[in-house]
Amino acid sequence: MSDPLRLGIAGLGTVGVGVVRIVQDHADMLAARTGRAISISAVSARSRDKDRGVDLSGYAWEDDPVALARRDDVDLFVELMGGSDGPAKAATEAALSVGKPVVTANKAMLAIHGQALAELAEANAAPLRFEAAVAGGIPVVKSLTEGLAGNAITRVSGVMNGTCNYILTRMESAGLPYDEVFAEAGALGYLEADPTLDVGGIDAGHKLAILSAIAFGTQVDFDGVQLQGIQQVSIDDIHRARDMGYRIKLLGEARRTPAGIEQSMRPTLVPADSPLGQLEGGTNMVVIEGDAVGQIVLRGAGAGEGPTASAVMGDVADIARGLTLPTFGQPATTLAPATRANAVTECAHYLRLLLRDEPGALARVATVLGQAGISIDRMRQYDHPGADAPVLIVTHPCAPLDLAQALRGVIDTGVVNGEPVALQIQNP
Ligand code: NDP
Ligand code: HSE
Repeated sequence: MSDPLRLGIAGLGTVGVGVVRIVQDHADMLAARTGRAISISAVSARSRDKDRGVDLSGYAWEDDPVALARRDDVDLFVELMGGSDGPAKAATEAALSVGKPVVTANKAMLAIHGQALAELAEANAAPLRFEAAVAGGIPVVKSLTEGLAGNAITRVSGVMNGTCNYILTRMESAGLPYDEVFAEAGALGYLEADPTLDVGGIDAGHKLAILSAIAFGTQVDFDGVQLQGIQQVSIDDIHRARDMGYRIKLLGEARRTPAGIEQSMRPTLVPADSPLGQLEGGTNMVVIEGDAVGQIVLRGAGAGEGPTASAVMGDVADIARGLTLPTFGQPATTLAPATRANAVTECAHYLRLLLRDEPGALARVATVLGQAGISIDRMRQYDHPGADAPVLIVTHPCAPLDLAQALRGVIDTGVVNGEPVALQIQNP
């Protein structure tokens, strides 16, 4: 058997503790599978005194994650602190720059600094692995970089934030408004410390940008992801969508178009009887389309101690076996900057408007849409106790960019109260 692989783990929260548990509980199995003992030399977190429910007495303690990454008795640095910059980035760079492999679950850091870190890793022949950063326990990074390496990928889509899926499915099943379910999710500990990362679509956008880079051989382009959060989705939208045979999901889509790469993360109506439509609670689903394989669907737990630690350990096992791969599936220096082609793919849209209930109001909206080339497929005005009339419009397929411009014209008519809500309807 080869020399042991000695880990240094920075971050002993949900994921870090999960990794310690797997290393301790499955030592023999991991050694048998990788041909090397996997041990922990040293750990780091903010508070040394916290009881974390695992025995850390056999490991050295470092207050400073950078010092941990540089220790001679650490062969592999495991970054599980989080944050796009700060100690996570500093310690990752410290390890990579001396040729030490890094495993991380940090999607924010990879979405923003992925290219620079990948170049640093490859310049120093140090693997940088991040399966846990996207969709928790689902091995989607491995699927794309390895199993699907023979495919030209055309589209990657899916639900990549469990908290948003929990909120949207709970609103529907309990008939509760967004604010109430958001508060419930907070009380259950589902929300990130900054909840905008979840409900604003940013966390899921980070994950999509990472997958998109691997799928299309481009540099990570998080700024190129069109983001729309779920805060505007009302219980009425959920009911209207259901009446039409749809469910609303925070859906990410990255696709290759003739004009470039289109990336979006936004609430979208998906057919209720599709695999995505049937996805409940905090589960994640990623759908990949390749020219040879066709469509494959991966589904599983996108977060939590066990699932996320499982993904971290998959990367650790690969490094123990001596498996090395370029960070994003091909050498970082060959990744071209992504050409953005945002909001060009046509799709039908669901529009919810609050109209002043006066003669000609609806006609003015229809005229503005018609002048912008937006064709109405279905339209309905609902009963209303107040002065404003809720109107639902489903458009024929149109480019989101054209619709956004048309809606500015609709607002300018002065007959609409508040912001119109526009949600895409997923193309087959
Ligand atoms: P937690 O907040 O539970 O834990 C973070 C850990 O990092 C804590 O132990 C904390 O110390 C430590 N830490 C924070 N700052 C420092 C610092 N400056 N120096 C040393 N230690 C520090 O986070 P998670 O375990 O949930 O997440 C870790 C990473 O995994 C993040 O990148 C996250 O995005 C990612 N991830 C998490 C998932 C999940 O389900 N939780 C799913 C997928 C990815 P202390 O405990 O003393 O405060
Ligand atoms: N906040 C994330 C989610 C955690 O809800 O999916 C996992 O990345």
